[in-house]
Amino acid sequence: MAELREVQITEEKPLLPGQAPEVAKEAELAAQILLDQGQTHSVETPYGSVTFTVYGTPKPKRPAILTYHDVGLNYKSCFQPLFQFADMQEIIQNFVRVHVDAPGMEEGAPVFPLGYQYPSLDQLADMIPCILQYLNFSAIIGIGVGAGAYVLSRYALTHPDTVEGLVLINIDPNAKGWMDWAAHKLTGLTSSISEMILGHLFSQEELSGNSELIQKYRNIIAHAPNLDNIELYWNSYNNRRDLNFVRGGDNTLKCPVMLVVGDQAPHEDAVVECNSKLDPTQTSFLKMADSGGQPQLTQPGKLTEAFKYFLQGMGYMASSCMTRLSRSRTASLTSAASIDGNRSRSRTLSQSSESGTLSSGPPGHTMEVSC
Ligand code: BEZ
Repeated sequence: MAELREVQITEEKPLLPGQAPEVAKEAELAAQILLDQGQTHSVETPYGSVTFTVYGTPKPKRPAILTYHDVGLNYKSCFQPLFQFADMQEIIQNFVRVHVDAPGMEEGAPVFPLGYQYPSLDQLADMIPCILQYLNFSAIIGIGVGAGAYVLSRYALTHPDTVEGLVLINIDPNAKGWMDWAAHKLTGLTSSISEMILGHLFSQEELSGNSELIQKYRNIIAHAPNLDNIELYWNSYNNRRDLNFVRGGDNTLKCPVMLVVGDQAPHEDAVVECNSKLDPTQTSFLKMADSGGQPQLTQPGKLTEAFKYFLQGMGYMASSCMTRLSRSRTASLTSAASIDGNRSRSRTLSQSSESGTLSSGPPGHTMEVSC
């Protein structure tokens, strides 16, 4: 539980006017190192305690980026490759980040006692206000994967005024139908929980290819000391209610949304259907080639670039704030975003692997991405 330590940065000797600037600089550097490592906190909620890790410092007038991971993972195994990707640094330095671990998924989490009632996904969403209240944050941009994407969507439906934007990877907004249940039960007869979760996270092609990435995640999940807790989160995911998005109705996401899925990934059809139910003027749909089931692990470069355009569409990350390198790289897509005016229509972005291009809605409009 080393991560659960609260790090207190107290000045034993407050810096006095005239004190050597090197001392102040050193203190600042030490504080920065601590913040860069992330500070882990826990808060009590009506549904039990929840742990989250905060990186960076709050920026005035900017929402926090809040992430929610998928089943079988925690914030690190789900998001570290994306948030530590070199090009991502230029983006995230402008935002404080809050990475939530679903209960019992944090590193070193004890196994819940037998009979413990794990929160439903709706209850997990209801824990988020406690986190924001604790941190005194009023607005977020959410990034969620799978079950985490569902949790953030539910939160956005109930607290629309606090969500400025959502990046939803592999979202399946539908409750399981009886056919899905039958298939799930049958698979359960022959497969272990960890194999079922791997089948949720990765495509069959990836699993049979057994790349280093698959071996790593198979090992993480199969040997997780908290596998019993993971099974509880998995059950909550499988028992989720339908989000019931209705295009043009009251029950829809009001903020800009970027839907992301790998082509031929397990949740491709669900994300396509979800796209058809959301407001086309607020939603971009990014189908990513060669990314398998977890684009944030396999294609952090493409996702970083797409995220940058998404933020720019929301009025953050003006290209003048970026380095010359990233400015020139984003120029073509940035201009496309402004052609769109302020999200006047739906965009489908599909990234082709061979050419390294992003193509958008209007025919013939191809935008280059160098990743
Ligand atoms: C971050 O900087 O937000 C971060 C760092 C390590 C893991 C995950 C996120």
